[in-house]
Amino acid sequence: MIEVFEGAIALRAYDLILKKREGGVYTQDEIRFLISGYTAGGIPDYQMAAWAMAVFFRGMNEEETTALTRAIVESGEQVDLSPIPGIKLDKHSTGGVGDTTTLVLAPLVAAAGGKMAKMSGRGLGHTGGTLDKFEAIPGFKVEIERERFIEIVNRVGAAVIGQSGNLAPADKKLYALRDVTATVDSIPLIASSVMSKKIAAGAEAIVLDVKAGDGAFVKTVEEAGRLARLLVKIGRGMGRQVVAIITGMEQPLGYAVGNALEVKEAVATLKGSGPADLTELCLVLGSELLLMSGLAGDRETGRKELESLVRSGAALERFKEMVQAQGGDPGALDDPDRLPRARRLVDVISPGAGFVQSLKAEQIGVASTILGAGREKKDSPVDPAVGIVLVKKIGDRVEKGEPLAVLHVNDEGRLQQAQGMVLDAYRVGNERVESPPLIHGKVID
Ligand code: URA
Ligand code: CA
Repeated sequence: MIEVFEGAIALRAYDLILKKREGGVYTQDEIRFLISGYTAGGIPDYQMAAWAMAVFFRGMNEEETTALTRAIVESGEQVDLSPIPGIKLDKHSTGGVGDTTTLVLAPLVAAAGGKMAKMSGRGLGHTGGTLDKFEAIPGFKVEIERERFIEIVNRVGAAVIGQSGNLAPADKKLYALRDVTATVDSIPLIASSVMSKKIAAGAEAIVLDVKAGDGAFVKTVEEAGRLARLLVKIGRGMGRQVVAIITGMEQPLGYAVGNALEVKEAVATLKGSGPADLTELCLVLGSELLLMSGLAGDRETGRKELESLVRSGAALERFKEMVQAQGGDPGALDDPDRLPRARRLVDVISPGAGFVQSLKAEQIGVASTILGAGREKKDSPVDPAVGIVLVKKIGDRVEKGEPLAVLHVNDEGRLQQAQGMVLDAYRVGNERVESPPLIHGKVID
């Protein structure tokens, strides 16, 4: 396909691949040509694959990355949330293991008066998907008409639905291509992928949880910092408020990894008895959202407000309203017996005594997927009941014969492999170690 732009210079995909391969810097028109051509089918996968690899090695500057984000946004529908008064809030995590945050944050921020019209994705690979987690609540629907979605946000303050098929279609194609060509972990490609979806979904103020560590796309804090700065700059460049928090993913967040198990963990957190790390992260992200939306004058006030909503029960009440509004059974939040439960619980026993030195998050995520909590292929079903509940985390003392984790199992055929992987994810030794930091930093401007 040849498109003609100003000055009547015909662009060719070949020349643009070569340009990046040689370290060149693209113009906006060149980026638009590539993305619109790829979306329309005029530029084939093999050329885009070569392009993605050239970008992986050569990188893109801030202007190029912003132009790429804009081109991806413009490849599809841009959601109009104007029928919702107030600042439309969103939160995004770059992907972790056992990241139960959205289930807590959406009702919590809604209880404080925030408006969260959230479009989420499903799990793929070792990271779980927010939609799968909500769907573990009996009856909960994530396919909701746009009008009803907006009505729920206006009435309840939060709703979570599946991403519309026509939202950033260029990202959908490009992500699938990157996934099979070893080009996912490129900072400009991740940044444009994340921000294009948030912007197309209509978010005005966005808090980003940029994960660093074993369980994340980026493994080091330095790299996460670079990604965070770029994400914030792109958002600002496109007229949105953005704050990025850089957080540790050296081990899973909280104790529960698996869909219904994480619903239970979210309920506990909304009641004030959740894991310390998950609770802290929700308070940090939530107070940024309250500040950006003007609902709190400063972070400290925002945090106190959120804590008091947990204490009073208002946050949990809001979760129930949200569940009811989306067709789910709010009673399942009070009575865990009404949530899907696995047939068998199997302990993973520590073969020695000592302190947990490390706990590979990615491997726990993979083990949970093997048990059936995640999907190995795009359309495979998930089992809402299964997963892993960690008993020990980094820094914890463990005795020989004590359980490190508990597997929630339905498919016996997968038990042994998952058990081996969980055991292997733990390293227990004599050295006393500190629990790794949860919050590494923050990028505001
Ligand atoms: N999440 C996304 O949405 N896109 C990426 O490229 C990586 C993580
Ligand atoms: Ca968790």
